[in-house]
Amino acid sequence: MNPVKIHNNGSTKLLLLFIFAWITLDCFLVSAASIPSASTGPGRVVRTRHGNLRGLTLSGGAAQAQTTTTSPSGVYRKFVSGTTNKNVEAFLGIPYAAPPVGSLRFLPPASPGPWTGIRTANTLPPACPQQLPPLANRTASLETMPRARYYQLKRMQLMLANQSEDCLYLNVYAPSEGFVGGGSTSPASSPVMVLVHGESYSWGAGHLMDGAMLAAKSRMVVVTLNYRLGILGFLQTAASPTPGQVRGKSKSAIPTQGNYGLLDIVAALLWLKDNIGVFGGDSSRITLSGHGTGAALVNLLMISPIAAGLFQRVVLMSGSALSPWALNHQAGKLKAEVARQMDCIPFAGLDAAASPEQMSLADIGDCLRKKPLESLLAVRLPAAPRFSPNFAPFIDGAGIVAIDPLRAMQSASEDFPRIPLVAGVTSIESYRYTG
Ligand SMILES: *[C@@H]1O[C@H](CO)[C@@H](O)[C@H](O)[C@H]1NC(C)=O
Ligand SMILES: *[C@@H]1O[C@H](CO)[C@@H](O)[C@H](O)[C@H]1NC(C)=O
Repeated sequence: MNPVKIHNNGSTKLLLLFIFAWITLDCFLVSAASIPSASTGPGRVVRTRHGNLRGLTLSGGAAQAQTTTTSPSGVYRKFVSGTTNKNVEAFLGIPYAAPPVGSLRFLPPASPGPWTGIRTANTLPPACPQQLPPLANRTASLETMPRARYYQLKRMQLMLANQSEDCLYLNVYAPSEGFVGGGSTSPASSPVMVLVHGESYSWGAGHLMDGAMLAAKSRMVVVTLNYRLGILGFLQTAASPTPGQVRGKSKSAIPTQGNYGLLDIVAALLWLKDNIGVFGGDSSRITLSGHGTGAALVNLLMISPIAAGLFQRVVLMSGSALSPWALNHQAGKLKAEVARQMDCIPFAGLDAAASPEQMSLADIGDCLRKKPLESLLAVRLPAAPRFSPNFAPFIDGAGIVAIDPLRAMQSASEDFPRIPLVAGVTSIESYRYTG
């Protein structure tokens, strides 16, 4: 495992991070942000390794967060933000991986292709495919979820209308100050904050959080990103290899089986390592921050050798890899149920179903790649235990979640990553999820 560089003068920085963490958390709780419509203009051009990009300049007041949202149920705290006169350069919808469509569906993300000319990065990218619970009939919805949750989902719904399987994009918000543009790296580069969204591994998108305010106030380069969700991101599609199948093999020789959503975040971090310098970001000072299930993903990456060295600090808000809902311990069973509903049963004779053993060994990826997206999203699974999402990261034996995180942490040895970590919880965790 690569040694992880630790920075000194940690305590003040950690304190600052903590404050930013709470600002970020409040943004999550209060509002789905929107792209400021006033005072925007064409931004400067930057030269990434894949091609040139032109973003947007958000000037001063435009980068102002929504001050207060009082939901009809009145349960939201008031959050009054200050304003800022700092400009921010926003680059929206930057592809960090090849579109995971067609033959690339249910596979680890591939490198993004280059483009020629100047790519315009001023439009929010589509969200990854997802299906929110039905919300049209308010009375019916409120029989299945608390009011606060209902209104939160209603607000999100508006921002998630544009969906596509071609969704592996990130958004960069860079303080204009110290931003050079072109192909050069700013001499005094800023720390980078990467936000990983939550919502049950099944819903949401990077752009629900508007990084402009945080970038303007904190002078950090703020990054939000999409990763594959639900069935496309977290279904186990093949069997976990046995230790014998893994021994002596390189990672690339080990067949893939899932956790693609997590691998997407790794691909985004690799992209940032190569490219964030041209936005004024310091690729050796990257903080990975997540909320809820996003925090669990961040924590899993923190202890995974595959992501070692790609970030230097971590913020976990209201979740971790040890949260009871963090992992799916029945990934094989879920695969069997998906295979049944999608008619992807392997080895089945004319009228004999596959045995559970055959089912657990089967690779259903090829079969699923040929199915229409709508039928994948229409898979209906038995209700998961309370608070537990159906699709979630699983222990894959040799991939990105090689062993149980609890075991990894308990047996931590010398080469366990040493990364400064801030964790935050509230006294009303899961409040919005209970009736
Ligand atoms: C959806 O996103 C795509 C890609 O950014 C964009 O071209 C398209 O205009 C968007 N559609 C809507 C309805 O916003
Ligand atoms: C909405 O749901 C309620 C409760 O389930 C039901 O009584 C009502 O008929 C539904 N309204 C419509 C317009 O479907």
